[in-house]
Amino acid sequence: MEQVLEQDRLKRLVGEAALAFVTSDSIIGVGTGSTVNCFIDALAESRIQIEAAVSSSEATTERLTRHGIEVVELNQCGDLDLYIDGADECDAHRRLIKGGGGALTREKIVAGASRRFVCIVDESKKVNVLGQFPLPIEVIPMARSMVARKLVALGGQPEWREGFTTDNGNWILDVHHLDLVDPVAMESKINDIPGVVTCGLFARRPADLVVIGSSSGIQQF
Ligand code: 5RP
Repeated sequence: MEQVLEQDRLKRLVGEAALAFVTSDSIIGVGTGSTVNCFIDALAESRIQIEAAVSSSEATTERLTRHGIEVVELNQCGDLDLYIDGADECDAHRRLIKGGGGALTREKIVAGASRRFVCIVDESKKVNVLGQFPLPIEVIPMARSMVARKLVALGGQPEWREGFTTDNGNWILDVHHLDLVDPVAMESKINDIPGVVTCGLFARRPADLVVIGSSSGIQQF
């Protein structure tokens, strides 16, 4: 219980710290998850007035809108200067596992459209090698079993996130025990399987900066 409270405190700390990267009157990309929710709440309470946000999920759109922050479609904007998002795991090379909340595809799209991706995490997310957190993969529903078999052949143990449908109308496989020592190669291999929409590895396009909320304060690398 105390550990959860401390993690929540660190999420709020890093959510507030992310305000330092936001410029007034800009259009920013906003990720998904409880850490990003802390950032959205801090932004709404701050004096920073952004022009609008591009959202990575229906949940984030709802929260932004509730705070009176305008949400625009990515197709209405050019590239964005800044994308703020959390992660489930990050390594020392700023490579990430994302998708615990199931928003990985839109997150990868908005990250890809952004010149700077600032990833905000609490210290529990930092790992030496990615892969303790099961890797989320968004799949077209009709391909679920076929993709699962290919993932077994790659050494993983896929588990269908039953009852969950993504904002894009697809399903998620959470893959345990994959060898992610070379996450760039594995990201390409998985994305090449027909029926995979995207996988939650952000290694080919890692974060540009990771900001960590830790018990000794804010760290970044
Ligand atoms: C959602 C994500 C989130 O960034 C990730 O799950 C981290 O979430 P939280 O900040 O709640 O720990 O990738 O798809």
